Amino acid sequence: MKALSKLKNEPGIWMVDVPMPEIGPDDVLVKVHKTGICGTDVHIYKWDEWAQQTVPWPMVTGHEYAGEIVELGQNVKDLKIGQRVSGEGHVVGHNSRASRAGKYHLDPDTKGIGVNLPGAFAEYVKIPAFNIVSLPDAVDDEIGAILDPLGNAVHTALAFDLVGEDVIITGAGPIGIMGAAVAKRAGARHVVITDLSDERLALAKQVAPEARAVNVGTENLRDAMKGLGMKEGFDVGLEMSGAPAALDQMLDHLVMGGKVALLGVPARPFVFDLSKVVFRMVTLKGIYGREMFETWHKMLGMLETGLDVRKVITHRMAAKDYAEAFKIAADGKSGKVVLDWGEAQ
Ligand SMILES: NC(=O)c1ccc[n+]([C@@H]2O[C@H](COP(=O)([O-])OP(=O)(O)OC[C@H]3O[C@@H](n4cnc5c(N)ncnc54)[C@H](O)[C@@H]3O)[C@@H](O)[C@H]2O)c1
Repeated sequence: MKALSKLKNEPGIWMVDVPMPEIGPDDVLVKVHKTGICGTDVHIYKWDEWAQQTVPWPMVTGHEYAGEIVELGQNVKDLKIGQRVSGEGHVVGHNSRASRAGKYHLDPDTKGIGVNLPGAFAEYVKIPAFNIVSLPDAVDDEIGAILDPLGNAVHTALAFDLVGEDVIITGAGPIGIMGAAVAKRAGARHVVITDLSDERLALAKQVAPEARAVNVGTENLRDAMKGLGMKEGFDVGLEMSGAPAALDQMLDHLVMGGKVALLGVPARPFVFDLSKVVFRMVTLKGIYGREMFETWHKMLGMLETGLDVRKVITHRMAAKDYAEAFKIAADGKSGKVVLDWGEAQ
């Protein structure tokens, strides 16, 4: 089968022929229809320090996918051939204290499909049946292919009660943008999303028109807050940029006792004024992946009842055009890039 593999110890990714995955008794084989390119895939493509230290090669990459089940392991009883599915890309162990308590997202032995396990940028991918999530009719394959990052947005946005609250989202990447749509849907009063890129903020306005998009490189955040009639500060912050300056700015614009969910991953350790957290009695919460499977349940429920994030997909391309697709995903201006595996060759 065709697959996009990290073949060499250098930047790039290559379409190659690899053997079909062999499934175990608790796995299913998924024929991949569509995949999304994630920031993680871009790190692997660029072969930065994190990727070099984390990803064994050769490795078929990719973890955002939708497809259909074509083979069932002998122990798999509750799934069907032909079923349209997506699934959780974090493969957890079942022996840790967290897993045995049902808190799978906190399992310390988690491995990533397309990072440490063969991935979904392929015509077929092996997935543990436990990780499979069935797609309702309301969720088509291209939305199915971006449920992983939408799940990041949902997990972050629902970390704190948003009903009637004023929310700041720093970073209008695809996840921050979807986070803005989710925050409004979850009942926030004002949602302000910040970035330094006009292209990204223009996309935010399309996907989440009820949010106020602010370019913090050219506009004053306090003025934007005044314009919305806000007096004190934001009740909740969703950090989705990984930029130290964004976190600092967020903390400066929170109410006393504000709450912050941190999804963005800083590129490197940085110096940060912890006294802003202490004296303002701020709650910080780290977010990793999605809650298994509560985030999936809530996300699908919201999609079935009108949450619309489709406009965040700015590029739909054939898998064979992967080189161009990765360039677009890496330029930091686009929304989600979705590859169609019906056209892998
Ligand atoms: N914790 C997790 O499980 C998890 C999962 C996926 C992604 N992530 C991280 O979440 C973040 C969002 O993902 P994405 O794919 O949307 O990322 P992205 O890199 O596409 O978007 C980040 C955005 O932040 C903007 N930005 C940079 N400096 C800023 C500043 N000072 N103020 C406001 N915005 C600023 C950038 O211009 C960019 O548009 C990334 O850091 C990513 O690594 C974390």
